[in-house]
Amino acid sequence: MISNSTIDKIFSTARIEEVIGEFVSLKKSGSNYKGLSPFTEEKTPSFFVSPSKQIFKCFSSGVGGNVVKFLMELEHMTYPEALRFLAEKYNIEIEEEGTTPEEDAERSERESLYIVTKFAEDFFIEKLHSEEGIAVGLSYFKERGFSTETIEKFKLGYSPDLWDAFLKEALEKGYKEEYLIKTGLIKESSNGKKYDGYKGRVIFPIHNLSGRPIGFGGRTLKTDKKVPKYINSPESEIYDKSNVLYGLYQAKGEVIKQDNCLLVEGYTDVTSLAQSGITNVVSSSGTSLTQGQIRLISRYTKNITILYDGDAAGIKASFRGIDLILEEGLNVKIVLFPEGEDPDSYSKKLGSEELKTFIEENAKDFIVFKSGVLLKDTKGDPIKKSGIIHDIVNSISFIPDHITRSLYIKECSNILDIPEKALIGELNKLRKNRLDKKIREKERGASTPPLPDNVPLPTDENETQNQFFEDVKELAAFDFEFQERDIVRLLLNYGQDTIVVEIENEETGEQEEVETILANYIISEILSDELVFKNPAYQQIFDEYVDLFASEKEISQQHFINHTNELISKMTVDLLSFPYDLHEWEKKNIFVTTEKDKLVKAGKGAIYSLKTKHIQKLIAELQEQIKSAYEKGEDFYQFQGKQVKLENIKRELSKEQGITILR
Ligand code: GTP
Ligand code: MN
Repeated sequence: MISNSTIDKIFSTARIEEVIGEFVSLKKSGSNYKGLSPFTEEKTPSFFVSPSKQIFKCFSSGVGGNVVKFLMELEHMTYPEALRFLAEKYNIEIEEEGTTPEEDAERSERESLYIVTKFAEDFFIEKLHSEEGIAVGLSYFKERGFSTETIEKFKLGYSPDLWDAFLKEALEKGYKEEYLIKTGLIKESSNGKKYDGYKGRVIFPIHNLSGRPIGFGGRTLKTDKKVPKYINSPESEIYDKSNVLYGLYQAKGEVIKQDNCLLVEGYTDVTSLAQSGITNVVSSSGTSLTQGQIRLISRYTKNITILYDGDAAGIKASFRGIDLILEEGLNVKIVLFPEGEDPDSYSKKLGSEELKTFIEENAKDFIVFKSGVLLKDTKGDPIKKSGIIHDIVNSISFIPDHITRSLYIKECSNILDIPEKALIGELNKLRKNRLDKKIREKERGASTPPLPDNVPLPTDENETQNQFFEDVKELAAFDFEFQERDIVRLLLNYGQDTIVVEIENEETGEQEEVETILANYIISEILSDELVFKNPAYQQIFDEYVDLFASEKEISQQHFINHTNELISKMTVDLLSFPYDLHEWEKKNIFVTTEKDKLVKAGKGAIYSLKTKHIQKLIAELQEQIKSAYEKGEDFYQFQGKQVKLENIKRELSKEQGITILR
């Protein structure tokens, strides 16, 4: 884990306007910067950056947050990835903490594997340009039509045709044999002899999402069928095959831009398509797609197009794997290549524009494609035909969204010439079976109320944070949301602002004006009535605010904006006022009375509103008790005194509103 002091340092050093300025062209606008939102295709700027608050806000998509959030949203980095990115940019050394000696050892082992792998990547690139490399490796690439640009982009290399070229140099440079073997760069024969794992092969390095090499695919140059065509790195602490896609590092920007990810089979399909200008392409490197890889893609887009060069049998075998993609809620299209062609070979036959057109025109929706393939097999046999219904509806049943499901049912009803009703019947049966199974698997089937729109969904795997999200989900369902939100909003925006309140002097009984800050007023009102926020996120913000207040620490908005709890940080940014709308008015020279000018009234109103809500709830609960006592024939008069009391408090509250406070 990155230490808190490092995180603090990153936040205090990083300038949001500088970081965002590298992605968006920003213009000064009052005390803010504005520009065209990188999240939408807008024509008039509604994207604002506040240097004083160190936050950004996109008014057309609603996304907002601190500098880390920006990188997470735009570049799809994880939280630690974004921190590391900033640390690198601002030359901040990262201090790790909170780890056990085992974890430290594991990290240093992982780091060692990264370093060895990077050394190997550089070695192979260097050797591609050696005398032997040029004659053998580079000429092979050139023969296959790889441009210099492609070779550089994918950092392709060559491993000399010697038993120990790499081994010797690596040992000389002091790399440990242990790591050379763990990464498969060096192999050990049964008699204990060590040798180069990729001897005489051209090298395709595999990168993680930050561009570090984590493994290699080495292609033989021999046509000998007994030699394996590819040798791939073994799995290691840095290379988990089920969570890696070849080419994703190079493709991710384009995948986001085009909102589609092309999936091919081989390394050379990726490099050739990229060279043809089709750059949103990745490969699962010859294995069937895993859930981890699908989730990786879904960080960037919800659309996958699979480019197939297989025969009918191969395609049918892959149908099951594709259901997995549907289950993740992604849309799948299929492009079938002409017989004997793969994306690599076909890209050489067609020009780049023709190839793009071919892919666009031949992309078939997966369900439609599958229906067509299976229908062809039935050759009009009605019994066979009824057999495939189950198969197709099964695929549809994995789609999480019900509108999409019903559209597919319509479509398939047309293709297969089967009444929609029959398909829906089958669909419901399948879904019910699966649901029953799920419920049986789950120990408790407790359901939580639906999440209100303004509560963001959890994205963190952290367990305690998930529990926190569960609580927020459950409790935010109560109707205090608006009132609680307003209190916290006032605290965060104007808590430190001075107000003048009128209080009664206990000795003289006269009203006196006293100067204080808004936070003091709000906190004392909430604490003296022992009010608890129903929404634990607001409670947490309040508690932390009170702690800072009590310890007389400086209360800065940054504390909440950069909060480690993502939900707290998001709520804060949402609640901080952004002078966007205001600015529009100021431009037109129209005087606007801001909330700030009427702080006392705003604070008083919010407190009144919250307290009233609590009283209303108590009254409603009491009425329930009275009703149930009455129905059971029990004594219900005992409750009536209490009800009168509550009604009195409610009346007092509304009387009090606006009396004791000036301005
Ligand atoms: P070229 O034949 O050079 O165009 O390579 P390719 O990348 O198109 O390979 P191919 O279509 O034959 O295979 C697809 C993918 O399967 C490759 O990119 C490799 O990831 C993997 N693969 C192919 N052959 C082997 C092999 O012999 N061993 C292993 N482990 N993987 C292989
Ligand atoms: Mn190929």
